[in-house]
Amino acid sequence: MQEILEKVDQLKKEIQDTSLSTSEELEKYRIRFLGTKGLVKELMSEMKNVSKEMKKDFGAKLNEFKIFAETKYEEYKGVSSTDKESANEAIDYSLPGFPSETGSRHPIQLVMNKMISIFEKIGFTVTEGPEIEDDWHNFNALNLPENHPARDMQDTFYISKNPDWLLRTHTSSVQVRVMKEGKLPLRQIFPGRVYRNETVSARAHCFFHQIEGLYIDEKVSFADLKQTLYYFVKEMFGADVKVRFRPSYFPFTEPSAEMDVSCFICASKGCTVCKHTGWVEILGCGMVHPNVLTNCGIDAEKYAGFAWGMGVERTAMMQYGITDIRVLSENDTRFLDQFKNVV
Ligand code: DAH
Repeated sequence: MQEILEKVDQLKKEIQDTSLSTSEELEKYRIRFLGTKGLVKELMSEMKNVSKEMKKDFGAKLNEFKIFAETKYEEYKGVSSTDKESANEAIDYSLPGFPSETGSRHPIQLVMNKMISIFEKIGFTVTEGPEIEDDWHNFNALNLPENHPARDMQDTFYISKNPDWLLRTHTSSVQVRVMKEGKLPLRQIFPGRVYRNETVSARAHCFFHQIEGLYIDEKVSFADLKQTLYYFVKEMFGADVKVRFRPSYFPFTEPSAEMDVSCFICASKGCTVCKHTGWVEILGCGMVHPNVLTNCGIDAEKYAGFAWGMGVERTAMMQYGITDIRVLSENDTRFLDQFKNVV
């Protein structure tokens, strides 16, 4: 009995000397003194061994100890929660939050969007066609004879033979689809992806993007073609960039030309982009061949038209100083993240 009372005094002293500054210390204290297997409970269980006469005094002493232990706990619990409150007060709610990560537009899409908006300003509308085409839309209707080298298995990805299904090699196939619908006059552009069976390298890829244009009406001339493309170049590359047309050959146009712009990377002084010529080829164009009009059900005596097809990759590479075409299709986020917030 005496022993227990001494132990109570000892524990009281221990409680007095205990400092409770962290929530872990507080919890440890709670378990040691006030928990279901704690010292207060343990001492209370001694009551049954105490004689009747002593019970009152003993009980009072233990009760006092219990209250003492609980008070200390409550006191410190209060302090630690006020600590939390004051810590909360230190948070500046006016600070901006963490922004959520957003994606970025792909450089090819950025350049295409710019090209499209330039043509839209002068009345061209956008139409898309299928990437999987048949032989007739991709070749025959465009006046490409059966033995034309562009039809060679080496250049074209065939999906099946007889019937021939292939991945379109150019967006010119969309010209055919639109002309076949028979609504004239026609003033449209056809952006999209095209495929060629080429060895992938820093300068060439087996798929890339083109924007095709088609204008058909009565009395359309080569002068209209030139003015349309001059306007485009000025809007796209700036007023200082020079333009030149070179005679060329495409089965679906007559006459045909290729258009170069003066290299704005080196100001025509000569660099790797222009292969030291000062000029960069950006598109093929020409007056729509009468055979093509006829193949698509258009009266070639009454109507004439011009068309062009331009690559997007080369322009994007020039615009952003990209030297390897492959980075445009690898989806490496270290590359793509550089275009964040570019619109
Ligand atoms: N289809 C041609 C190519 O992929 C580009 C082209 C040239 C398109 C002349 C045209 C055109 O519409 O008139 O190389």
